Formats: sequence, structure tokens, C-alpha cells
Amino acid sequence: MTYQGLIQHYRQYLDLPAHTQAISLLEGNTPLIPMPRLGREFGCELFVKFEGLNPTGSFKDRGMTTAISEAVGRGAQTVICASTGNTAASAAAYAARAGLRSIVLIPEGKVAVGKLAGAIAYGAEVIQIQGSFDDALSLVVEITQKTPIALVNSINPYRIEGQKTSAFEICDVLGSAPDWLCLPVGNAGNITSYWAGFKQYQKGLPQVLGVQAAGAAPLVLGHPVEKPETIATAIRIGKPARGEQALEAAQQSGGRIIAVSDAEILSAQKILASEGVWVEPASAAGLAGLIAESSVGKFEAKGKKVVVVCTGHGMKDPSIITESFTAPKVIPAEYQALVEMVDA
Ligand code: F0G
Repeated sequence: MTYQGLIQHYRQYLDLPAHTQAISLLEGNTPLIPMPRLGREFGCELFVKFEGLNPTGSFKDRGMTTAISEAVGRGAQTVICASTGNTAASAAAYAARAGLRSIVLIPEGKVAVGKLAGAIAYGAEVIQIQGSFDDALSLVVEITQKTPIALVNSINPYRIEGQKTSAFEICDVLGSAPDWLCLPVGNAGNITSYWAGFKQYQKGLPQVLGVQAAGAAPLVLGHPVEKPETIATAIRIGKPARGEQALEAAQQSGGRIIAVSDAEILSAQKILASEGVWVEPASAAGLAGLIAESSVGKFEAKGKKVVVVCTGHGMKDPSIITESFTAPKVIPAEYQALVEMVDA
């Protein structure tokens, strides 16, 4: 049967109300890419779940198809979210598809250009907040409590329902859950969703390694971070809404939540790109965590199946690459100049 999107494909596993009207861009069904060369370095069977290949370039589309479908079914006309960028683009796209008005609140000057462009292109009303993601989230929670505007952040339970499906897909491809799942943690909706998904699907449970950026690591520090800072702007979050559930997932799974530096994140981003998988910085945090833990002997991966979740595409944040490289050389459009340049 032709693939018709997540809701259609996994309907029986999703706890969605009867009024749900499926709005889909054929999200999900993303590749689980084997990484044999990199896996050999850890002695494990390594895979990347490349969520950057969803319709708007991030995993958010999984939760957005369900959240928007539910909102439309209950008659909502406007949706709103706070975002570090990816949720904004995804909400805007699905709202556009459904014919809804979308409003997105973002932290001023801290959203990568590909995300902002996406939100604008899909027709969202973009509002910059003189504050952090956490401040923006408080504001959207308040306005949705006082008006009929529908909230589509991952506090919305239907977001979690949709995002569970990535765990289902991984089990469907591997035949069972992997031994380890490594992924970035920001507002903590995704780690919560994976854990719920694996538990529900009953094909085994992975140990979960959640990875925060060192400058935005409230779950590692054990307290909120008032002024989170990291180059991985997607996870620049100091008060994760689902922090408790994230800690529970890590603990119940026999895994943990750790922090890695921005340098480690950028290094992991380079390593992934050197294997042909270009992801945005936050998306490389899972691999950065795996590398950090292995290098201090805390991660016994030998013979294990390990899945690293890469949450967003590299094209979301091109500046991080272009700003740190000198512009390509320019030569005359002449054969001899080319030969000299390539030293052939
Ligand atoms: N990776 C990327 C690329 C993200 O955009 C996010 C979150 C995460 C990881 C972390 O996921 O919040 O469920 O723990 N981005 C949100 C946004 C906050 O607004 O786009 P999480």
C-alpha cells in the first residue's frame, strides 16, 4: 500500500481523539542509515535515524501532523508555539496545509536562518521575543489558557503521540529495539516520546543516552538555567517542559543524561558530514555524547546495536558552516587555470 503518512500508517498505536482529521505531508518513514565505518571505531553496529529528511527538515513534523490534525478536528482556527526554530517551521507548514493561521514566538536573534526562512515561507506570523525560548513558552501557554488559540508545543499530548512513531519505525527496520538510543535533549519532548514509543511497541527497550549542550544542561545540573547558551541553538533551553519525564526515561532505561561542549558538538557534526550525513549542530549531540562516553570508558558498545537520532538537517543552519570557512577560490573560466588549481 502506498505510504500515506504517520497517522494512517500507525493509527492503531496512536491515542488520538475521534475528531482528528488527518493533515499530512507524508512525514515519517525516514531512513535508518547504517554507519559501518564509524561503527567499527566503537566496535558496534551503528545507525543514524535521519530525521532531517522529514518534509520541513526536522523530526518536529511527526508531532505536528498529529497536533494539527487534532486541532483542526476540534475546530481550532489559529495555532501558536514557542520555538527555537524547527517547531516554528513545522507548525507553519502543517497549519498552512490545514488552512489555519499560525503564530510563532522565537527568541530574538537566536534562530538559525533556514528555520526562520521556513516559518516565513510557510506563512507564519513570526514574533521575536526579547528573551529566551523558556520565556516564549510561558507566554504561549498563558495566551492559550485565556483564548481559543491552540497550543502546538510538545506540552500538547498529541505531539508526543506522533513523535512516538520514530521508535516504532526503528523497531520495524531492526526487528527489535536497539541496545542504545542516543539523542539530543532540549525541551525534552522527543526523549519522552521515544521512551513512550518503545514501551508501547513491546519489541524490547533500549538504554537511552540523552545529550544536552553544556551551556544549556538543566537536567545534568539538576536546576534550571536562567541564561542558556550554546551554538546548538535548537537546544538552547534552560527549563525543559518535560524534564521530569526525560530523567525518568533515562533512569528507567538504565541510561543517563549527559552534557557535551559546543566543541564536541561541532566535531560530531563534522564526523557525520564526513560520512555523507549533514545535520544541524544540535542534531549531532547524540553522536557527541556517544563519543564522549566511549572515550572515558563509560560506554560499552562492543557488539551492540546503537541508534543515533539526528533530529534536523544541516541546511537548517548553513551559517555555522559558511561562517567558519573562507569563501571558495575564484578562477577565470579557463581550462589552464582549472588545471593549475586542482594540481592535476
Ligand atoms: N534537535 C533539534 C534539531 C531540535 O530542533 C530540538 C528541539 C531538539 C533536538 C530537542 O528536542 O525539545 O524534544 O528535547 N527544538 C524545539 C523547537 C525546542 O522549538 O524547534 P526536544
